[in-house]
Amino acid sequence: MPFSSENSREWVERRQLTRTDPCYPRRVTTAIEVSKIRAVRHSGLVRVTHWLTLVSFVALLVTGAEIVISHPRFYWGEVGNVNTHPLFTLPIPASRDTVPTGYPYVMPDQNGWSRYLHFQSAWVLVFTALVYGIAGVVSGHFRRNLVPERRDWTWRAYWTRIARYLRREPPDRSEMRSYNLLQRTAYLTVVFILFPLMIWTGLAMSPSFTSAVPAAAALLGGRQSARTLHFFLSWLLLLFLVVHVTMIALSGFGSRMRAMITGYNGDPPEDPEEERL
Ligand code: HEM
Repeated sequence: MPFSSENSREWVERRQLTRTDPCYPRRVTTAIEVSKIRAVRHSGLVRVTHWLTLVSFVALLVTGAEIVISHPRFYWGEVGNVNTHPLFTLPIPASRDTVPTGYPYVMPDQNGWSRYLHFQSAWVLVFTALVYGIAGVVSGHFRRNLVPERRDWTWRAYWTRIARYLRREPPDRSEMRSYNLLQRTAYLTVVFILFPLMIWTGLAMSPSFTSAVPAAAALLGGRQSARTLHFFLSWLLLLFLVVHVTMIALSGFGSRMRAMITGYNGDPPEDPEEERL
């Protein structure tokens, strides 16, 4: 079984069930009992941190878009303003009439509450990510459930799984309880590369943070470079979200969502005899 938290929860459930039936010796699991045992797929901590991440992520996307609209020009280096040459300009109107965009009108300015909510949501995300990250390392969740198995570290293994998606093949038995290779790779990329970079580039834009840790912005080429990288990273995370939800839809949206909400996907364990007391 891939999840050890599953194993221990299932073990407890099995133990409770076998103990309450006096007709059977303790080590026998009856067919009725087996049907009552549900496989635990996600721990409470993974579920709570996942949904908190989603709420703060959506808030960050909406408020981030609003902040971009106030100045849709991007620069590289330390300094960038309407008097300097932009790296690129988004072809959208701005919410400030001081920013040249080529449009003869400005958008409503929602910059005030957007900035407050953006920073608040960012801190919620940072603390949630810390709890998830520390618990994931300490419990071995990352090693067991996110790092691909050694035999899957080949292009062929990736291509085989992509081809199965393209052929719309249903997930096999092991995938009902564990993540497939593509999911594992996507989650590892988000958890260990995109999110840390997002947090770093975000902090590198904060004058108070960079006054304490100047290297945070300097290593990225300056505060404006950090802003530009932050912008591209948010698109990558948005892309992840689209692919993530598509993969879940292809694997069975109902059961995957039920498992991420309740912890259980409703299936009996793979092998009822496997984890006997
Ligand atoms: C509408 C939005 C979302 C939905 C419906 C959703 C749903 C799910 C579901 C059902 C799973 C379990 C997949 C499985 O059992 O095969 C999952 C796992 C995961 N999701 Fe999402 N998700 C959403 C947004 C996000 C966002 C915004 C992020 C982060 C940027 C994210 C990151 C993850 C990660 C890292 C996991 C693996 C968690 C672990 O086991 O440690 N998800 N998601």
